[in-house]
Amino acid sequence: MDRILVNGGVRLKGEVKISGAKNAALPIMAASILCDGPVGSATFLAGRHRGHGTASVQPGGRGAGTRRGRMTISPQTLRWQEAPYDLVRKMRASFFVLGPLVGKYGHARVSMPGGCAIGTRPVDIHLKALSELGVELRVEHGYVEAETLTGRVLGNRVVLEFPSVGATENALMAAVLAKGTSELCNVAREPEIADLADFLNSCGAKIHGQGTDTLVIEGVDRLSGGTYSIIPDRIEAGTLAIAAALTRGNVRLVGAVADHMRALIDRLREAGVAVMEEPDALHVIGPDELVAIDEVTTRPYPGFPTDMQAQLMALLSIAKGTSVIKETIFENRFMHTSELCRMGADISVDGACAVVRGVPKLSGSPVMASDLRASAALVLAGLVAEGETEILRVYHLDRGYERLDAKLAGLGARVRRVSGKANGHMAAVVP
Ligand code: UD1
Repeated sequence: MDRILVNGGVRLKGEVKISGAKNAALPIMAASILCDGPVGSATFLAGRHRGHGTASVQPGGRGAGTRRGRMTISPQTLRWQEAPYDLVRKMRASFFVLGPLVGKYGHARVSMPGGCAIGTRPVDIHLKALSELGVELRVEHGYVEAETLTGRVLGNRVVLEFPSVGATENALMAAVLAKGTSELCNVAREPEIADLADFLNSCGAKIHGQGTDTLVIEGVDRLSGGTYSIIPDRIEAGTLAIAAALTRGNVRLVGAVADHMRALIDRLREAGVAVMEEPDALHVIGPDELVAIDEVTTRPYPGFPTDMQAQLMALLSIAKGTSVIKETIFENRFMHTSELCRMGADISVDGACAVVRGVPKLSGSPVMASDLRASAALVLAGLVAEGETEILRVYHLDRGYERLDAKLAGLGARVRRVSGKANGHMAAVVP
């Protein structure tokens, strides 16, 4: 199992290219089920998700191929309308195939995803939205069995009780080939949802209202295939921005879209970080001294993203003064706190609220990654800690970043990935 070793103290410097957004690539892979022709997508997370997403519903995996940063999916070869437990368990986003499968074939069988480390993550809002679009649903033996009476989803007005990202995407994908027009209200407004809608429109869908809280979808009879380029990953860009800020670095994030990152950029500026917006890049210069932020509360977009909360906490742990972070999206997303404290941070958690008292320095130690963004926070902390930080369970990190360690090393960080057992019994150094 891979581990990452970080030796802190290097000021990061240079340019780094931002990869395609994981949270856009996954629903777009699922949405390709709706298409009649092949779909080519540039800037997918290279290779790592092969076998998941739409490919996961094709036994034999013949319908998908990847080249570096690109993927081609041929949905015509799809034979099963089922996503088994083994796949959904490994990657929650496999649940996104429910909407497109039932939208295209009129029936689907998809494993319930269950909870994960950051929370219970129910799917009730997904199911309610689909049922209001005329889909009959039964949950049996851990699976959702979905069926339409007429073979087609029926356009309708649906109001989500909370702007869930996944429920918005599942309902949107189900409504694209529906009979009639659908109006989805109180939807999530994340840029990845607009990207999904833009992808579907490029294949012939009629979706209006991207970026607002209401999506209007005129059902069409079929979608073609096409080639589509996915938006840059705002969470990867944000993580690297914090890496630059923490290390008093000077880094250009090429491709980062400032408009997708407003809440974070505002907070970084409050903490004393210089963030310059260039036509195709963000230029970040870390200050000699970071300062605390009054209060940061995670909210649905355009609020502060929960996916940046752990990384911001790493930054605030060495900012002068006391900061307060409130997590309102997931109930169990402070697990990185105890690991940061083992590195010398002074953070106390009370329910959904963390109080971060800035300390002058962190010290490197072995730490355990508990989830995707938590592991990024630990790597960031390692960049400024004295001595060596060893991050275990790196597979969490690899689910969401395209070799974050290699990108940081490209900016001068002393970061190494090693395979084999911990406690000094090192097998191989992976370059
Ligand atoms: C997506 C992102 C994830 C991000 C999250 C919030 C992808 C692949 N993942 O996850 O990185 O952290 O948005 O920005 O895009 N909820 C319910 N019932 C439902 C659905 C959601 O109670 O049916 C709750 C969840 O438990 C959670 C909150 O709503 O507490 C937000 O979840 P949601 O917006 O659905 O997040 P995901 O789509 O799972």
